[in-house]
Amino acid sequence: MAVLVTGGAGYIGSVVVELLRERGFDVRALDDLRRGHRAALAPEVPLAVGDLNDPRFVDSVFDGAGIDSVLHFAAWSQVGESMVDPGLYFRNNVGGILNLLESMRRHEVRRFILSSTAATYGDPQSDLIVEDDPTVPTNPYGESKLLSERILRWYGRLHGLRWIALRYFNAAGATARCGEDHEPETHLIPLALRAALGRSEPLKVFGTDYPTRDGTCVRDYVHVADLAEAHLLALAHLDTVDYGIFNLGNGLGFSVLDVIASVERVSGRTLPWVAADRRAGDPPTLVASSERARRELGWKPGRAEIDVIVGTALTWAESHPLGYADRTTSKRA
Ligand code: UFG
Repeated sequence: MAVLVTGGAGYIGSVVVELLRERGFDVRALDDLRRGHRAALAPEVPLAVGDLNDPRFVDSVFDGAGIDSVLHFAAWSQVGESMVDPGLYFRNNVGGILNLLESMRRHEVRRFILSSTAATYGDPQSDLIVEDDPTVPTNPYGESKLLSERILRWYGRLHGLRWIALRYFNAAGATARCGEDHEPETHLIPLALRAALGRSEPLKVFGTDYPTRDGTCVRDYVHVADLAEAHLLALAHLDTVDYGIFNLGNGLGFSVLDVIASVERVSGRTLPWVAADRRAGDPPTLVASSERARRELGWKPGRAEIDVIVGTALTWAESHPLGYADRTTSKRA
């Protein structure tokens, strides 16, 4: 049987495709290549290029393909953009998962892993977030993922879907093949590396007056390869449970200034930065308790140190100065 990875040419999806192949799975990828990169996938990975909102296209991917599980990454993920154009996020993210689930139902595919997010929690009330904490998203991106989880609950109850939602904290780092290449890039670590490598203006530090130990925002950075491992564990876990929700983070908070210091240590360069205004919608601190994932999935993140995470991102940035080589040819939204 085969596994379908939607968004398989994206940052996290491509790392999961790579790991599934290493572990001997028959993998199919689906991506519209608006934000993904063909070059993120090994040439031999079958890739269906099309839009999840097109039911005929989605049906054609399942027809006769022997797919029994779906790992769903295909979604738009920029918080700021979702605040400007919420309709885009609800159409792409909620419309996309609905079409996908309906096609799965028609093809009797009943195993599903959702790429979810810490943004489902909104402004957390606790220092270490657990899965049962209130979910009050503060932006349409987080809301679109929370709605996706709720839809899964109903498909589970009414159609017998088995599902797991994995709520990532700050995905970061790279493997030798796959790294972070967004356009525009908004994430801290790739932007910090650009500044340190002299490829951009000084990094803007968004807010230096937060109620944190050094005034800058604190986040839980988790290596993308550790996230990928969690997906394989979750897939196996679906043999024994009907559904589940798991946080994925290291339980360690690093401030923006901690990340800058790490980039300087790892690269041996000075990272020029300037203090800037707060970015709308940024909570001061987001750190995960991943006890449930450790206990129930047996997840043991192996790359928790910030210097290791930053080091792998640096290696990828140095070996891919223009990101993926298909950067100029892939269609962008
Ligand atoms: N930051 C800067 N300067 C920059 C970019 C980021 O200071 O140029 C700061 C941000 O203000 C934030 C921290 O660095 O405090 C991390 O920002 P990222 O953009 O890298 O990540 P976010 O925490 O904003 O977002 C991540 C995921 C989202 C997810 C969110 C959950 O990328 O998909 O966590 O809140 F929704």
